[in-house]
Amino acid sequence: MATSGTQTTLGLHEFGTPGEAPAMMKAWAIREDRFGEPLTSFVEEELPIPEIGDEEVLVRVVAAGVNYNGVWAGLGKPVSVLKVHGDDFHIAGSDVAGIVWKVGAKVKSWQPGDEVIAHCHYEDTSHGRRTQSKGDFGSYDPMAAPKSQIWGYETNYGSFAQFCRVQAQQLLNKPAHMPWELASCYALTYFTAYRMLVTRGEISPGEVALIWGGAGGLGSFAVQICRELGVKAIAVVSSDEKGEKCKELGAVGYINRTEFENLPFRWGETPEEGKARFGDMKAMGKKIWEILGERRSPDIVFEHSGEQTFPTSVFLCSKFGRVVICGATSGFNLHFDVRYLWMMQKQIIGSHFANALDCLRGNSLVEAGRIQPFLSKVYSYDKIPQAHQDMFDNKHVGNMACLVMAKNEGLMNSGDLKG
Ligand SMILES: NC(=O)c1ccc[n+]([C@@H]2O[C@H](COP(=O)([O-])OP(=O)(O)OC[C@H]3O[C@@H](n4cnc5c(N)ncnc54)[C@H](OP(=O)(O)O)[C@@H]3O)[C@@H](O)[C@H]2O)c1
Repeated sequence: MATSGTQTTLGLHEFGTPGEAPAMMKAWAIREDRFGEPLTSFVEEELPIPEIGDEEVLVRVVAAGVNYNGVWAGLGKPVSVLKVHGDDFHIAGSDVAGIVWKVGAKVKSWQPGDEVIAHCHYEDTSHGRRTQSKGDFGSYDPMAAPKSQIWGYETNYGSFAQFCRVQAQQLLNKPAHMPWELASCYALTYFTAYRMLVTRGEISPGEVALIWGGAGGLGSFAVQICRELGVKAIAVVSSDEKGEKCKELGAVGYINRTEFENLPFRWGETPEEGKARFGDMKAMGKKIWEILGERRSPDIVFEHSGEQTFPTSVFLCSKFGRVVICGATSGFNLHFDVRYLWMMQKQIIGSHFANALDCLRGNSLVEAGRIQPFLSKVYSYDKIPQAHQDMFDNKHVGNMACLVMAKNEGLMNSGDLKG
């Protein structure tokens, strides 16, 4: 531990003693006067380690996963997260693998030294029932509370720092068979996909699922969840290479969307363009029959691409089927022919991240080795801005992670960090 004046810090790779936190930490901070692309907005600073409340935990960050919300936070768009939480700086990061360092007075489930990951649903503590138990909250869904938030985005002290602050209910066991960087990269995307398909979509064995972006962050998990639950996944991708990856992950087949060039919906389309789009929607439906070997439509459509694909999703979904949506990469204003919805009694279901119970259930499949993150790139601590820049520039596939306390990739536990 190094002391300068009254400030005490811990070296980046120095292990220290769980339970004893220094006063200051290294952190990548975003401030309003440097909002912009990640290489500009993320700047390393030395900041005070936050106090923890009675039901909170201070976690020593060993590795941190990269998500698009860090990019949005740095851009200051579509909202300034500083205005959401009120601090004059923001430490981004909604995925972490680390060590419990200090626990609040009422925390019973975790203790200093525990190896953990965290999910990013930050519960509203002023409404409804709180839980720090490992998932037992009966029929109450904490996501129904009015101020349910995403940790590390709408709240401060995320994972791109030596220490982060979480609610005890966010913590989950780190899968023991995974190195720190792999454990840090999956929670946000995987648990979102889990809630979409299992909790909200209620998929059941034998059903057919159409998965947009099957090789992406969400989609690569959606395909694996279908495989594990006996659902036939058909992935939509933009290259045969990605399609083959989806088949490796368990998809029964894939559709290369570049073969359907009229498919994307665009506002202001001419009647001819609308006709051509309808033709491609029908052709895509036939491709699904070809893959399945029978005239059958998807019982569930896994949607996050939004404006350009949504009319196709509603059209292709089966009678009484479900379109489950959590995002809109290509635009938020959705247009579709509602006759296909009501005549065929289809449902549109919104979904947003996941609650502690979804995460606990989903994590048990990871701990059992049945779901595997698709980690494409690992960055060192000093390259955290670059990792976000690469995401902003769309140079990524699957998930990405950054090392913080870990010096190298492949370290498995606290013992390895001390060596
Ligand atoms: N609400 C939540 O809790 C939540 C959580 C996580 C993510 N999200 C949102 O979900 C979306 C996807 O996240 P992600 O992490 O999976 O992103 P990602 O890793 O970039 O993957 C998305 C995939 O969608 C496909 N795609 C992109 N634009 C498309 C278009 N116009 N038409 C058809 N397919 C398109 C691309 O695959 P191909 O090019 O291979 O087709 C891309 O790889 C984002 O908008 C994100 O903000 C929401």
